Amino acid sequence: MTAETGVELESAIQVPVDLGERSYDVWVGPGVRHCLPEVIPREASRVAVVTQAAVADAGITVDPGIEHRVFITDNGEHIKTLGAVEDLCREFAQWGLTRRDAVVAVGGGAVTDLGGFAAAVYHRGIRVVFVSTTLLGQIDASVGGKTGVNLPEGKNLVGAYWQPTAVLCDTEALDTLPPEEMRSGLGEMAKYHFIADADLDSLNLPERIARCVEIKAEVVAADERESGRRAVLNYGHTLAHALEAHGQYDLRHGEAVAVGLVYAAELAHRAGRIDAHRVAEHRQVVGGYELSTSLPEGADADALVSLFNRDKKAVDGVTFMLDGPEGIQPVTGLESSLLRETLEAIR
Ligand code: GLY
Repeated sequence: MTAETGVELESAIQVPVDLGERSYDVWVGPGVRHCLPEVIPREASRVAVVTQAAVADAGITVDPGIEHRVFITDNGEHIKTLGAVEDLCREFAQWGLTRRDAVVAVGGGAVTDLGGFAAAVYHRGIRVVFVSTTLLGQIDASVGGKTGVNLPEGKNLVGAYWQPTAVLCDTEALDTLPPEEMRSGLGEMAKYHFIADADLDSLNLPERIARCVEIKAEVVAADERESGRRAVLNYGHTLAHALEAHGQYDLRHGEAVAVGLVYAAELAHRAGRIDAHRVAEHRQVVGGYELSTSLPEGADADALVSLFNRDKKAVDGVTFMLDGPEGIQPVTGLESSLLRETLEAIR
């Protein structure tokens, strides 16, 4: 417990991520960032806090309880560059951060990806703790160990698997999020309704976040380095990535995933894998989060179909993760005409 805030780690929801010697806990709850001193690795005598201007401006600050410096990056995904990693590592070195010390990344997915990757390569790897402050970050980027930055040639093309030593998902921070950022998280949350028979409807927000983290943790524990099972986490993402790559629609990642879920369900139905009731369930879940179930206005079906072929997960032609009698599985060999016709069906 911290004397000033009265927040106790024990009152947060604890979700273990079981990865042998790289195991860690994710803690979910209001104000849980105030428990940061309890999860700082004992050997660390200094902490580099990496955060984003918007997070600090929203009053989301942390005190690791030991000597620390705060490194504030710009806002947005564009901070994820190799140049930013070099800048951070040089500042760490000039300050004298050692391999026994730690990085704490405070913010959404862009900050935890950047801060996590800087931690992964500085001194060939120092410990990192994530304080996740966005819904999307809490249920996705903060868990699983993939860290990295973008190249002009593509997103996340340079990175490392580097598991954090603890993750604090502060649900109080969600109150400071702009509505479109919250919507983006809800789109990713909708995805979890269809993985692992998750009964999320009866849960309050912190419980729901913890359940999503638990589902992701189970998937990551089964496939840390993405050689199979992890692909289920890409459910709804093939159309989402195409919409994002086309770059002509005003959609956040999770909003694109939400439409992608409905598309995947319609596609699975046309491929004979699920019935109309299951498609309706997808529409109901996505609509229940007040997210669009339709393609954005003016969407170019031909352009989207050709972008499906360029999806980075496409190893054997276009691969869709589709629901079916045995759950969500990769499906290849779908005809372009079917892909296009199904796009028309969700206009
Ligand atoms: N850091 C996100 C993941 O590993 O999936």
